[in-house]
Amino acid sequence: MRTHNYIPIEAKIIERTSLSPDVVGFKLKINNFSFHPGQFVMASVVGFGEVPVGITSSPAEKGTIEIAVRAAGMVTKKICGLEVGDPVGVNGPFGNGFDLSKIKGRDVILISGGIGMMPLRSLVKHIEKNKKLVRSLTILNGGRSPEHLLYKDEYKKWEKFAQVENTVDTCNKDWEGCIGMVTKLYDRIKVKPGSVMIVCGPPVMYKSVITRFAGKSIADKDLYFMLERNMKCGIGKCQHCTCGKLYTCLDGPVFSYDQIKYNKEAL
Ligand SMILES: Cc1cc2nc3c(=O)[nH]c(=O)nc-3n(C[C@H](O)[C@H](O)[C@H](O)COP(=O)(O)OP(=O)(O)OC[C@H]3O[C@@H](n4cnc5c(N)ncnc54)[C@H](O)[C@@H]3O)c2cc1C
Ligand code: FES
Repeated sequence: MRTHNYIPIEAKIIERTSLSPDVVGFKLKINNFSFHPGQFVMASVVGFGEVPVGITSSPAEKGTIEIAVRAAGMVTKKICGLEVGDPVGVNGPFGNGFDLSKIKGRDVILISGGIGMMPLRSLVKHIEKNKKLVRSLTILNGGRSPEHLLYKDEYKKWEKFAQVENTVDTCNKDWEGCIGMVTKLYDRIKVKPGSVMIVCGPPVMYKSVITRFAGKSIADKDLYFMLERNMKCGIGKCQHCTCGKLYTCLDGPVFSYDQIKYNKEAL
């Protein structure tokens, strides 16, 4: 386990995969690094800067971590252009991650929109290796198009231990699945009493989840949102990520709805 000194360590890219038209997945070789699903790292390139990115792999995989990067601006475009053998600075892990004791023995529903699948995949892979951790797992996943659905090659494997439902906004005639926003998938699931729901995606999706489930079939304390804020330092110094009194980088990025329900800056 790394003793934290907030100095990036050099990781090496050992695999590079195109996950969608604008997202690249990387496997990084990194020593003495452990984390919880839902935590993030600051990934950096010398001369360009650093950005927060979620860890997408299982904590059980020792000696490597996986990240996925969407080319959004200067730093992320630079990282997406890196190749196998190139170095990447990694600082972290940061943030609270998912509290696994809260999902133990429960029916768990994950709702992902777009790149929200990145951090959720770490939890899916953790559950895949520890199937008895949860009573059941349901994954609702929405993407702009079939090409934008992240980790689509893995869904068949996930279907062996989870109910997996996908939808896309637009598609060609080859797509046989659901068409429409992720809200269309809500009718496909039966929410059992006492279920836990974890949501990661665009803010508009959070509003639909709250309207449909919060305080009805899912208790506020069992509904979790991953908040993405414009982070600079990732370590509670710059205040770029604050929502009222909460620091997304330190207190989050995972928050229960009862923590942020009345926080106007959070949702
Ligand atoms: C906890 C956390 C986890 C994240 N995980 C991932 C991940 O796994 N993979 C990934 O690709 N991205 C992730 N992001 C978003 C990523 O950090 C931003 O896209 C990145 O910081 C943009 O930096 P840039 O220099 O490339 O772009 P910039 O040149 O800084 O900005 C390009 C555009 O992106 C916007 N932007 C900048 N930062 C953010 C941000 N944090 N959220 C939303 N929009 C932003 C800017 O306003 C601008 O419109 C995460 C963000 C957070 C806070
Ligand atoms: S990112 Fe700087 S305080 Fe949270």
